[in-house]
Amino acid sequence: MTSSSDTINASAAGTWTLGDLTVNRIGFGAMRLTQDGAAFAQGPSSDRTRVLDLLRLALDLGVNHIDTAAFYFSPLRSANELINSALAPYADDLVITTKVGPGRDPSGAWTWATPEQLRGQVEENLRQLGRDHLDVVNLRIARSRTSESVADHFGALAELREAGLIRHLGLSNTSPEQLAEARSIAPVVCVQNMYSIDSPAEHHAFLRTCGEQGIAFVPFFAIAGAGQEGGATTADSESLLSVARTHGVTPAQVRLAWTLHQGPHVLAIPGTGNPDHLVENVATGTLRLSADDLALLAP
Ligand SMILES: NC(=O)c1ccc[n+]([C@@H]2O[C@H](COP(=O)([O-])OP(=O)(O)OC[C@H]3O[C@@H](n4cnc5c(N)ncnc54)[C@H](OP(=O)(O)O)[C@@H]3O)[C@@H](O)[C@H]2O)c1
Repeated sequence: MTSSSDTINASAAGTWTLGDLTVNRIGFGAMRLTQDGAAFAQGPSSDRTRVLDLLRLALDLGVNHIDTAAFYFSPLRSANELINSALAPYADDLVITTKVGPGRDPSGAWTWATPEQLRGQVEENLRQLGRDHLDVVNLRIARSRTSESVADHFGALAELREAGLIRHLGLSNTSPEQLAEARSIAPVVCVQNMYSIDSPAEHHAFLRTCGEQGIAFVPFFAIAGAGQEGGATTADSESLLSVARTHGVTPAQVRLAWTLHQGPHVLAIPGTGNPDHLVENVATGTLRLSADDLALLAP
């Protein structure tokens, strides 16, 4: 595995196409940019200069797929504003994926958009990112609603796509049934769900289903695992630690690499506010797990 930041590049794990947009399989998640080392939306606001530098470093390392949301903000920082300030004017090959459905009012309290309110959330992202269209928009479904119809919400986003405000659509925190329903309304280019080496069997099956349909599967909490919003898990099995020792890498890198080995349609969006972790995460694209490693890691 390469260890020098001079030679690593986010393209090392290959590329995938979201509709007509090609991205390197190792991307970046912006949720951790707005506060320091604490759970989402908690803790002190991050150092602005450090985060702007981190975003520019990500692009220098070849990252061209960033996941964000208008609701990623802390009292003093907005992930979308940071992305805009660091990266605009945007490189032609940069794909910014955002998500709508949930929202937060100025006090930070959570709300959920009605279908009619989704346009306002899309426009909020456009304003903050400084764009006239959004590359990919995921409809993020509430944890309590994964068995409900998404037709009204997804239909509203499909109309915004037809109107040119959105290039491609995806779903997040979704189920196979909702994916099938959405696909009957408009093309779906990605599914962004919680997924890691610790996930239950049905999650692995859904990942494979997406691959069979040519849809990108984009895990969140691939490193955090059961730690979820709280941060990286330390609950690593002896097998995982042993594979990490064999390759001279960290358990976090094995977790990330393992997701990438689940299929060419799996895209990584690891979240970090730490430049050293960013470099390690991008370097993970060069980590090739052997058949023996994968057998040892098999869930
Ligand atoms: N659709 C959804 O509902 C949803 C939900 C959650 C997240 N997301 C998206 O998915 C992205 C990924 O999720 P996430 O950021 O919560 O989880 P993650 O990438 O699985 O893990 C992030 C945690 O791991 C740590 N970490 C990252 N790289 C590391 C490394 N190389 N070594 C050790 N620790 C490392 C981070 O801390 P440090 O900052 O200290 O590195 C942070 O605590 C988010 O940024 C967000 O864009 C989407």
